[in-house]
Amino acid sequence: MNVIAVANQKGGCAKTTTVVNLAACLAARDFSVLVIDLDSQGNATSWLSSGATIPGAWEAMTTREDLQKLIVQTNIEGVSLLAGSRELSNLDKALAGELSVETILKRRLAKLNAKSFDYVLIDTPPTLGLITLNALAASKDILIPLTTHVMSLSGVAQMFRTVEQVRDVLNPDLNVLGLVASRVDLRTRHAKDVLATLLERFGDKLLKSHIYENVRLAEAPSFQQSILTYNPSSTAAQNYRDLADEVIILTSSHH
Ligand SMILES: Nc1ncnc2c1ncn2[C@@H]1O[C@H](COP(=O)(O)OP(=O)(O)OP(=O)(O)O)[C@@H](O)[C@H]1O
Ligand SMILES: [Mg+2]
Repeated sequence: MNVIAVANQKGGCAKTTTVVNLAACLAARDFSVLVIDLDSQGNATSWLSSGATIPGAWEAMTTREDLQKLIVQTNIEGVSLLAGSRELSNLDKALAGELSVETILKRRLAKLNAKSFDYVLIDTPPTLGLITLNALAASKDILIPLTTHVMSLSGVAQMFRTVEQVRDVLNPDLNVLGLVASRVDLRTRHAKDVLATLLERFGDKLLKSHIYENVRLAEAPSFQQSILTYNPSSTAAQNYRDLADEVIILTSSHH
């Protein structure tokens, strides 16, 4: 089971878009995938399911309900979901007084049969609070999507500091799988400059697959589809297929 947290405390940098489309592309390569939506906004959940509120990550982290029973099928074949919900924003309070609150998700996932899923992708909120720490404690890898704007650079530096702290205290083996340059608009000089800076600063941690700005990606959630079915011949679909293939290679060589 390759557990990958998709995280960046910066809002709107394509975390959810990455989680859902990468999940679909991994499933299309015949891997079984579990998406865990840890964001109280529930964007991945409303994209992948009918919209009705269903039990999920909140119940998994605050009750003893069997994890397997909380996981549901999605409208994408091969992709399962542990849903997110509004309550997640109250996790700190709900867990007050409990021990090791940063490793609850890790301990719950350890009870899943390791053969149940090939990949677990965790969508996280745009904060570095308890929820994101749970995601980082439970994961082998972190994938960091970011937009190619100069403001993104300081956010990524902050993310790397958090990864260091998590390695020190919670998860010594946490590996940065890579940075995914997203919403790249190569018509602008600025995007090219930022890409060059990222390459210089982060070397091969900057993944080779870039995701270009494409309105089809913004439209797909309204149709509850991944880009693979919404617009299979688009550049955007090819971008995410390439990303999935890169992730498959990296995760099979690292672990
Ligand atoms: N490559 C792209 N081209 C065009 N639009 C995109 C692209 N990637 C993401 N978007 C759009 O950008 C917005 C933010 O993306 P998304 O919701 O995936 O970010 P996020 O990091 O999950 O946000 P949050 O921090 O709020 O959870 C969405 O409207 C999404 O459809
Ligand atoms: Mg999101």
